[in-house]
Amino acid sequence: MIVILLGPPGVGKGTQGKILCEALGLSHLSTGDLLRAARREGTELGQQAQAFMDRGELVPDGVIVGRVREKLEELGPDAGVVFDGFPRTVPQAEALDRALLDIARKVDRVIVMTADDAVLVRRISGRRSCSSCGTIYNVFTSPPAQEGACDTCGSELTHRKDDAPETVQNRREVYRELTEPLVGHYERAPGTPVVTVDGDQAVDDVQTALRSAVSR
Ligand code: AP5
Repeated sequence: MIVILLGPPGVGKGTQGKILCEALGLSHLSTGDLLRAARREGTELGQQAQAFMDRGELVPDGVIVGRVREKLEELGPDAGVVFDGFPRTVPQAEALDRALLDIARKVDRVIVMTADDAVLVRRISGRRSCSSCGTIYNVFTSPPAQEGACDTCGSELTHRKDDAPETVQNRREVYRELTEPLVGHYERAPGTPVVTVDGDQAVDDVQTALRSAVSR
């Protein structure tokens, strides 16, 4: 099963993608996580991505597509994958379609998560992420047991640099301009159902809706 989670910054793709993968035994492929790990490790990919991410712009398609292809090869031709944050542009979607065609597969489900701007702004302002294992918290809705420390591994929690309000504004515009057109791309793709899920519900309720969308 190949699932794509689409939705604006802060709608809950990372939170839900991790839960869905654990429940269904799928691999979670988040390009945002992949790029942040590359930055932490100081790799060439991380260095290439840094300035784009800090401005809230997309990393060039060629850079990200190559890395995703490598990741798919590592996972193997039969892997079940939930893509989170990829594809982000029509050329990325076309590159994914080609990569999957090469292994006689296709995108099985596209799930578009939605929420009002006010909800997204509040979620992003409250988000804290573990600098080590990547667990996501929210100071308003899902705080850690001990302020500033990860419940899972004890490492420091950080506020993402690209979560500054002016950068978030840019990320939202980029989403509307370059990523929303993917809904039409997949609606035109035969045999790829596109399902919209209301992301403005409790985490468990969103997850129930996602599982129902995946099993339809
Ligand atoms: P990326 O990391 O993909 O960021 P994004 O798409 O903007 O999404 P976010 O991570 O901000 O939000 P999310 O939807 O995952 O929400 P979350 O679950 O954390 O990309 C970052 C950057 O990397 C890009 O700007 C770009 O530069 C680059 N990049 C990445 N992929 C790329 C690509 N393919 N091509 C080019 N460049 C790329 O939730 C948010 C908060 O809300 C959390 O605090 C969470 O606890 C809380 N929350 C979640 N769900 C709920 C709920 N139901 N109720 C209450 N609170 C909730």
